[in-house]
Amino acid sequence: MKSQQKCIMIFALVCCFAILVALIFSAVDLWGEDEDGITEDNCSKNCRIVLVENIPEDVSYWDNSTAYLPLSMGLHSLLDLAFRSVEIVTPDWVLNSSDAEPGISKQGQYLFQRLQGLRARKINLKVASDHPDSSELKSLTAHGAEVHYVNMTVLTRGYIHSSFWVVDRKHVYFGSAGMDWRSLSKMKELGVIIYNCSCLAMDLHRIFALYWGLQYKDFLPSIWSKRLTAVYNKEKTLSLLFNNTKANVYLSSSPDAFCPRERTRDIDAIFRMIQDAQRFIYISVTDYLPLISKGRLRSDNFNMSRYWSRIDGMLREALILRGIKVRLLVSCWKHTHPFTFNFLWSLKSLCMDMPNCSLEVKFFSLKDQRNVTSQGVNRNKFMVTDSAVYIGNVDWVGNEFVYNAGAGLVISQAEGLEERNATVVEQVKVAFERDWHSRHTKSLQANKVPDCSKHGASPPLPPKALTDSQDGKQSANAPL
Ligand SMILES: *[C@@H]1O[C@H](CO)[C@@H](O)[C@H](O)[C@H]1NC(C)=O
Ligand SMILES: *[C@@H]1O[C@H](CO)[C@@H](O)[C@H](O)[C@H]1NC(C)=O
Ligand SMILES: *[C@@H]1O[C@H](CO)[C@@H](O)[C@H](O)[C@H]1NC(C)=O
Ligand SMILES: *[C@@H]1O[C@H](CO)[C@@H](O)[C@H](O)[C@H]1NC(C)=O
Ligand SMILES: *[C@@H]1O[C@H](CO)[C@@H](O)[C@H](O)[C@H]1NC(C)=O
Ligand SMILES: *[C@@H]1O[C@H](CO)[C@@H](O)[C@H](O)[C@H]1NC(C)=O
Ligand SMILES: *[C@@H]1O[C@H](CO)[C@@H](O)[C@H](O)[C@H]1NC(C)=O
Ligand SMILES: *[C@@H]1O[C@H](CO)[C@@H](O)[C@H](O)[C@H]1NC(C)=O
Ligand SMILES: *[C@@H]1O[C@H](CO)[C@@H](O)[C@H](O)[C@H]1NC(C)=O
Ligand SMILES: *[C@@H]1O[C@H](CO)[C@@H](O)[C@H](O)[C@H]1NC(C)=O
Repeated sequence: MKSQQKCIMIFALVCCFAILVALIFSAVDLWGEDEDGITEDNCSKNCRIVLVENIPEDVSYWDNSTAYLPLSMGLHSLLDLAFRSVEIVTPDWVLNSSDAEPGISKQGQYLFQRLQGLRARKINLKVASDHPDSSELKSLTAHGAEVHYVNMTVLTRGYIHSSFWVVDRKHVYFGSAGMDWRSLSKMKELGVIIYNCSCLAMDLHRIFALYWGLQYKDFLPSIWSKRLTAVYNKEKTLSLLFNNTKANVYLSSSPDAFCPRERTRDIDAIFRMIQDAQRFIYISVTDYLPLISKGRLRSDNFNMSRYWSRIDGMLREALILRGIKVRLLVSCWKHTHPFTFNFLWSLKSLCMDMPNCSLEVKFFSLKDQRNVTSQGVNRNKFMVTDSAVYIGNVDWVGNEFVYNAGAGLVISQAEGLEERNATVVEQVKVAFERDWHSRHTKSLQANKVPDCSKHGASPPLPPKALTDSQDGKQSANAPL
């Protein structure tokens, strides 16, 4: 009888202990950090937004085209404002390249020096990166930066392609440009800088905190910390003011495994925007390819690839069932996959004999007259419709959404709220149209594969009459 009581006692104790341990573990938050007392209720929603671009010297527009703030000036303005912290995620760290063409790389070196100098101003620089061996990151660490290494290979078999800054949990840079000297010189980039916007910065910081917490992890948690839960998403957007004009904003993320509770996936953000479009959808991306492959997509391992229909399917529906006008501006550069042309032509032929179905495709190419091996590329990654703009970090290729880490920013603003040029949605549309009508584009033509890859593998398709070497410089009005 006594031993039975003892047994019950011990069992009860063990149970208590187990419950205690469980409680401790659920209460202690191993991931994420505090948010400086800023909450959803008292964060700032009266923001200022500026479109930033890097336009390479080689790009020439018509004289009357609009110019937006140069990217380097925008980034420096953020560093000028920084007071306590600068948090950066970027695909690359190649700012200080001294072997690059001298002169051109100066902007990158200058930005690098300023980042190195942050510690002296008592500002914390935090970097999340998937480059363990970067000499620039080692140098930044030596100058007091904190760098967290994320082993993307083991987590998702991909790369970090996210590209944004969060400054003082208040100001934000978001766009296509990474910490690469070419992003400040020969590459064409587009992004936004948003000032005085702690509501949005708080949510973007949570995406940063997710990467930050993955330091040296070799698995992804099945449940993410509450502190990484999205504050805003496609169902619950953030209503704020951009330059005193109303806007609704949220962030998205990919891959799926990097989306904690409530976070909208990139692909769903794109889907929502395509669905909400009333009249037109303009898309500007470096690569468009509805394929997914285990390794890198190459022209010699097609048998390892699968068709990835998500975006292709959405566009087909918008085109043929809803009569939305779609324009696709894709880069023509040395890594353009030869299948790009086939898939785009297939989209195009969907509209055959349909009165209200309109798909136009153009290729943007920059040929560096002096040195073809270091070609400038249009690296824009955005979509703009009649009422919203999506600025993303990844190209529209299956692999990018499935394996790589990226983020997206969606801004909706009703049409015709203010003067025509006053909203950021309108400004991005103007930037798209400027590129579209520029002399660097060329229309997709039947049975013609543009010669994008002077150095790439030979295309697997029988190349029909290739265009002449001047294709990048021809007028935009080539027949379709
Ligand atoms: C915001 O609210 C929290 C909690 O209510 C408070 O601790 C914090 O000081 C407030 N922050 C500001 C900037 O008002
Ligand atoms: C800019 O100039 C071009 C050529 O001179 C002209 O076709 C176009 O309509 C002009 N655009 C605007 C917005 O004035
Ligand atoms: C950055 O470039 C400068 C000039 O080439 C060089 O002196 C310096 O050592 C470089 N720093 C790093 C960290 O590579
Ligand atoms: C990343 O993870 C892989 C697989 O576990 C491992 O082989 C590799 O060494 C790791 N990389 C680093 C820099 O730790
Ligand atoms: C941010 O807000 C503060 C205070 O409201 C204002 O003084 C400052 O000029 C604003 N900064 C920017 C970049 O708009
Ligand atoms: C793909 O094709 C190549 C050559 O045709 C072949 O060597 C390779 O084994 C194939 N791979 C798979 C996974 O089928
Ligand atoms: C095409 O669009 C016009 C104007 O939006 C509409 O009047 C017409 O009925 C549409 N035609 C078809 C075949 O849907
Ligand atoms: C062309 O660019 C490559 C790589 O940037 C460089 O190695 C090469 O020296 C350059 N050639 C000329 C003629 O400038
Ligand atoms: C809008 O355009 C008008 C004239 O075209 C110009 O004066 C004004 O500064 C522009 N506003 C913005 C925000 O670009
Ligand atoms: C917002 O205001 C700033 C100047 O205060 C201006 O540079 C910027 O272009 C404006 N943004 C938009 C979208 O009009």
